[in-house]
Amino acid sequence: MNRLPYVAPAIQRLGSGPVNPFRLGASPCCAGIDGVSIAALTREHGSPLFVFSEKTLRDKYREAHRAFSRRYPDVQFAWSYKTNYLNAICNLFHQEGSIAEVVSGFEYEKARRNGILGNRIIFNGPCKERADLERAVAEGAMIQVDNIDELLTLASMTRNRAEPLRVALRINVNTGTHAVWSKFGFSADNGEALQVIRRMRSMPQLSLQGLHCHMGTFILDPEAYRVATQCLVELAREVESAGVGDIRYLNLGGGFASHARLHYQYLPPEQVTPSMDRYAEAICDTITQLWPKGRDLPRLYLETGRALVDDAGYLISTVVAVKSRPMSNGPSAAAHGTGANGQSALNTALAAYGKGAPATSNAPVMRHAVVVDAGVNLLYTAAWYQINVLPARPCPDSPQPTTVYGCLCMNIDVIREETPLPGLTTGDQVVMHPVGAYNVTQSMQFITYRPAVVMVGLDGRVHIIRERENLGYVQELERVPDHLAPLQAAVANSRTR
Ligand SMILES: Cc1ncc(COP(=O)(O)O)c(C=O)c1O
Repeated sequence: MNRLPYVAPAIQRLGSGPVNPFRLGASPCCAGIDGVSIAALTREHGSPLFVFSEKTLRDKYREAHRAFSRRYPDVQFAWSYKTNYLNAICNLFHQEGSIAEVVSGFEYEKARRNGILGNRIIFNGPCKERADLERAVAEGAMIQVDNIDELLTLASMTRNRAEPLRVALRINVNTGTHAVWSKFGFSADNGEALQVIRRMRSMPQLSLQGLHCHMGTFILDPEAYRVATQCLVELAREVESAGVGDIRYLNLGGGFASHARLHYQYLPPEQVTPSMDRYAEAICDTITQLWPKGRDLPRLYLETGRALVDDAGYLISTVVAVKSRPMSNGPSAAAHGTGANGQSALNTALAAYGKGAPATSNAPVMRHAVVVDAGVNLLYTAAWYQINVLPARPCPDSPQPTTVYGCLCMNIDVIREETPLPGLTTGDQVVMHPVGAYNVTQSMQFITYRPAVVMVGLDGRVHIIRERENLGYVQELERVPDHLAPLQAAVANSRTR
C-alpha cells in the first residue's frame, strides 16, 4: 500500500484578501475635523499635528454632567489635570463648571494660574511635598491623604491650629472586577482604612470630611463603582462612630472609559464602552439607597479625565514611506509556516510528495506597512489601545492589513499592528483617533520636536493651543560647562574652513 509521507503541521496565514466579506468595500476615512479639512489643518500648522475639537470636549462634559446631575442633587466635577493639562483644555472645563484635581505642586500651581482658588482644588497624589502641603493648607485646598506619613505630616503641621483642618482619605478596595490599585490610599479590604480612621482620634487637629476612591482607569464594568460606593458609605458610618469627623463628601474619582479600544478587545468600543448613565446610575443609586436616612446627602465629586477628553483628540500624521515585504522576512516566518528559503512547510511537503502546491500558495504573503512622521513618543497610549488610523482621503480600494510604523529610529516604534488600510502612498495623510487623553501630557521630546497642538473652535476657527517645539525651546535648560565649550567652537571652525 502506498503510504502518505508525514507532513508536519503548520500554521499558515489565510490570504483571503478581497474575498473576505469583512475586507470588501471602500475604506472609511476622516477628511476633516468639525468641518475643517485635514489638508487645510496641516497646510497651516504642519504635520504631525494634534487637533482637539472644542465641540466634542463640551459635548462630552455636558453629557457626563447631565448623567450625574439628573440623578443626584449635589454633583461637582473636578478636572483631572494630568489627563491633559494644556491650559486651553483646563480652562474650557473650568468654564463648564469643573474645579481642579491635581497631583503635584506643579499641577497645583498650574490650576492657581488658571484662576482656580485653593478651596476649589482637590489635591491628590502619593508624593505631596511639605511646601506644597503647607500652601494647600493655607489656601484651603481639599487634601486627600494618600498614606500614613502624609497624615502624620499634616498632623504635625497643624498642631497649633485653632480650628481642625478638614481632610479626606483615599481608599482602595477590591471590587472583584479588576486588579486593585493598592499603591494608593488605605485598603478597605484588610482593615487598614478602619485602623487609620480610629487612629485619627489621637489627631484632634484633623477632621475627616471626605472619602475618596479612584479605582483605576478605563474601568469597563459600572458594577465596580457600585461596590466602591458602598464601601465608602460604610466607612462614612465608621468615621461618625469613631468621632473623627463628619463626612460631607464622597469622591469616586475617574476611570470611566472613553471610546478607545484596548489591545485584545474584540468588540468595538460602541458595543463595549458603558454609557455615562450606567456609571452614574451605579454611583448615585448606591448613595441614595444606603446613605443614613435623615442625614444630608454628601456632595459627590468626580474626577473624570479620559472619558471627557480622549474622543476629542486627534493626531494627524503623514506617510513618509511605504513598505511591502514578504512574510518570510524576520524571525516570525516559522510561526507563519514559512521556511527559511521562503517556501511554506506545506509547499515543501507537497513538493516532496510529487503533487506540487496549489499555484496560489506559492505567492508570498505580503506584509504591508507604512512609516508615518509621528512616533510612539507622542502616542504613549499606543501601548494599551488599538489607536484607529484612518486615511484623510476617500480610497476606493479594499483595505489590507497594514502595520503603521512611527518615525523614530527604534524598532519598538509601532503605532498600530496590522490595521485595515487601503494602499497609501507617500504624502498621504492619516488621522489617528482617539488620542486626547494622556498623550499630550506624557509625550516626550525624543529624536524629533513635539508638534503643535490646535483646537478647532465652535465657530470653525482654528486656535494654536501649544506651539510646535524648536531647538531653542529644547535646549533652553541645557548648560555647557566652560571646559566643554571649545568643542563647540571647533565644530563651528571646521564648518567655516
Ligand atoms: C486620582 C485620580 N483621579 C482621576 C484620574 C483620572 O482618571 P481617568 O482619566 O481614568 O478618568 C486619575 C488618573 O489616573 C487619578 O489618578
